[in-house]
Amino acid sequence: MKITVITGSPNRKGTTALLAEKFIEGAIEAGHDVYRFDAAFENVKPCVSCGYCATHDSQCVHKDSMSKLIDKLFESDVVVFVTPIYYFTMSAQIKAVIDRFHASNDKLSGNKKAMLFAAAYGIDDGTMEGLQKTYEAILRYLNWKDAGMLLAKGCPAREVIETTDYPKLAYEMGKSIV
Ligand SMILES: Cc1cc2nc3c(=O)[nH]c(=O)nc-3n(C[C@H](O)[C@H](O)[C@H](O)COP(=O)(O)O)c2cc1C
Repeated sequence: MKITVITGSPNRKGTTALLAEKFIEGAIEAGHDVYRFDAAFENVKPCVSCGYCATHDSQCVHKDSMSKLIDKLFESDVVVFVTPIYYFTMSAQIKAVIDRFHASNDKLSGNKKAMLFAAAYGIDDGTMEGLQKTYEAILRYLNWKDAGMLLAKGCPAREVIETTDYPKLAYEMGKSIV
């Protein structure tokens, strides 16, 4: 399968980078074709709601890194979102990417699975609630099917998440995705 992994952390060696690495390791071992897009290190301008895409065959007024990502997304069977929790939801870096789906909603809609990987320092029930609800709403809107979530609570830093089962679970989710 073709898998696109979109990460949203500005920490190259952070908690969610480790989850992404482990997931990708498992997915590649299982024979999948993985494309990784690190939103924090790409040039992705926020949607400005100009309406240009509506009158220009889904082309965006911005010419930036989304041009290479969007073609990968069209051909992907699975889209994997990997993000730290920032103020109870996904980071701005990954949200900017998702907002830019707007230009291509019709073409992106249907026939895909999605996965969600996240890490946060919080441990209470509400820590991931905002993110999970947003993720589920995006999937409903795009008519994508959830293929799994890994929500790593109590993980403020790399050295903490390394002591948990989460990296291994991420690897197994990559290895077992069908
Ligand atoms: C701007 C900012 C906002 C954050 N907001 C939350 C939050 O609302 N809840 C929480 O549990 N952790 C919060 N955190 C902690 C991060 O989610 C946590 O440290 C995560 O492991 C960072 O992932 P990374 O190492 O991949 O960047 C926040 C961190 C930052 C920098």
